[in-house]
Amino acid sequence: MGNTIALADDAARRYLVRNSVSTTETERFVDPHHLRTVLAQWATGVVVVTTTRPDREPHGMTASSFTGVALTPPLVSVCLLSSGTTCREIRRNGVFAVNVLGHDHEQIGRRFAESDRAADRFALGDWDAATTGAPVLTDAVAWLDCLVTACHTAGDHTIVLGSVQDAATPRPAAPLIYHDRTFHEGTAR
Ligand SMILES: Cc1cc2nc3c(=O)[nH]c(=O)nc-3n(C[C@H](O)[C@H](O)[C@H](O)COP(=O)(O)O)c2cc1C
Repeated sequence: MGNTIALADDAARRYLVRNSVSTTETERFVDPHHLRTVLAQWATGVVVVTTTRPDREPHGMTASSFTGVALTPPLVSVCLLSSGTTCREIRRNGVFAVNVLGHDHEQIGRRFAESDRAADRFALGDWDAATTGAPVLTDAVAWLDCLVTACHTAGDHTIVLGSVQDAATPRPAAPLIYHDRTFHEGTAR
């Protein structure tokens, strides 16, 4: 217990000094595989984050790291692997959309996570272009169309902050849930 408090104090001091969570820290308090197992107990919704490449081809990926950040001004965030294609394309294009998947969208959630099928991802589902040009799923439970306002490096990921330009709830359906590395159908109210 005493050791835990000392570690926390130390971390707090370092945080105050830098006043930032962006870090290239090499020391670790917990094994990454163990951390992954622990984080898997956090239940989330599932989104597909999309953008449009300069050649007008769409690109997107499955994500669970979506968060509403602020209402005034309207900001949301996603946390993406920095070396991934979606992160690179979003940084290049400056726009993205977040599509909240419904209980019956498990196949889409799986397909947009498969690294070897990036070209086939948009073959599933019916897609429209939002105001920014980013693709939105016509039967999503909800979608948000965003301009990138900031990208914060956090370890091997990038926290992408988006200013919401437009948003909709096309279909009042139960959401798709991800928990313990398994998809679950949420229940309708
Ligand atoms: C349910 C689920 C949630 C995921 N959430 C994220 C996430 O929040 N951030 C991330 O970088 N990858 C996440 N992934 C992994 C990406 O979907 C996967 O690595 C994808 O192939 C990346 O595509 P890209 O390289 O074209 O960007 C998730 C995968 C699944 C199945």
